[in-house]
Amino acid sequence: MHLYGTQTINDQGHLTIGGTDSVELAEKYGTPLYVYDIQLFRDRARAFQETFEKAGIGYQVAYASKAFSTIAIYQVAAEEKLSLDVVSAGELYTAVKAGFPVEKIHFHGNNKSVEELQMAFEVGIGCIVVDNFYEIDLLKKLSERLEQPMNILLRVTPGIEAHTHDYITTGQEDSKFGFDLKNGQADRAFEQTFDNDYLNLLGLHCHIGSQIFDTGAFQLASEKLMQKMASWKEQFDYTCPVLNLGGGFGIRYTEEDKPLEPAVYVEQMIETVKQTANASGYPIPEIWIEPGRSLIGDAGTTLYTIGSTKEVPGTRKYAAVDGGMSDNIRPALYGAKYSSVIANNANAGLTEQYTIAGKCCESGDKLIEQADLPVVAAGDILGIFCTGAYGYSMASNYNRIARPAVIFVENGVSQLVVKRETNDDLIKQDLPYSQKAAQE
Ligand code: LLP
Repeated sequence: MHLYGTQTINDQGHLTIGGTDSVELAEKYGTPLYVYDIQLFRDRARAFQETFEKAGIGYQVAYASKAFSTIAIYQVAAEEKLSLDVVSAGELYTAVKAGFPVEKIHFHGNNKSVEELQMAFEVGIGCIVVDNFYEIDLLKKLSERLEQPMNILLRVTPGIEAHTHDYITTGQEDSKFGFDLKNGQADRAFEQTFDNDYLNLLGLHCHIGSQIFDTGAFQLASEKLMQKMASWKEQFDYTCPVLNLGGGFGIRYTEEDKPLEPAVYVEQMIETVKQTANASGYPIPEIWIEPGRSLIGDAGTTLYTIGSTKEVPGTRKYAAVDGGMSDNIRPALYGAKYSSVIANNANAGLTEQYTIAGKCCESGDKLIEQADLPVVAAGDILGIFCTGAYGYSMASNYNRIARPAVIFVENGVSQLVVKRETNDDLIKQDLPYSQKAAQE
């Protein structure tokens, strides 16, 4: 079995995370429970940063917080000197409430509202990643009206579609995000912003995909963006100080996934940027990256309690847990695969195969299609690994199921960072029906 970060199996055969016994955590906090190994998050952050430090290059590592956004993780991110990528007023608000240094926040999104942009100006965030011409107009008006400068990056689509193990170059990309690099949109966006009085154009941004294991796609993207910036220097004598290459570094969900060390992606990127810069006489820009999944994904383990089991003779055995697609939509939405362990019996032989079913009223609510486990019984604690990214952040109240609690574990200590929702929380926004109002 593959264990992640600080995980071990103790003398009682229990899975431990961050020096705490997961069976005790399940008892103390209840299940389902999202458990985060904070040391792992810190180690990943440091590994990315150290690679830049070693190369002696200016950088920012921005945590793409759509992967997991809470006040507590923003506070740890701040401790680790990370920057932050937010994509909505809600994430920005959370970051401000967490006391995250606003000048290190970058705001993304393909349809930021006027209110969201206004909020970005008000709190004084570090940079807006501009996605489209409508947004350029909004930003020009807003910055003029407020007489307030704003750093911007232009998000471009370089015509590279990267998927887990390979990538394709499409020339032009059919994406809702960003300015196309090839058909002149990026040039027009540059011309509309580089000499603006209030908008301070820092450079280009791209994000070519997610769960990528291949460094080639990042290298190609770096090359394309650097060439574009060099062409603008030649034509307009404008040098962009920043190149943001997004996130997307893959992690190991199951044994099928073979990710590289974070450092390897970054080393290759730096090398390509240096080479391209030298070839065109361009000053080496700061490199910014935005990892989400690779910082927080395998730091998260969800603990569930097994309830009913069912055998369809000759077909399969089901084991049902007390959560499901409401706390992890990824298997149902993307066919995502996960690995698991019986946390209270982690040394037992894996003699059986179960389909792990959720408790939502939907046949597709299966968390793992084929889990290798010992014989399981009601009351066993199932740990599903690698649920730290896009689990809690994409959770819903489908079937009016309350969302689980979130705890951080580190150095033998656990702490509650998001309370378990209650039934009262579920009806908090509901208002009673008024017959009178309906008739008016
Ligand atoms: N930067 C930008 C502009 C992004 O759009 C994303 C992810 C990231 C960074 C972080 O990517 P990461 O390092 O986490 O791969 N819900 C999907 C993933 C959607 C990713 C969206 N953008 C999932 O559960 O797999």
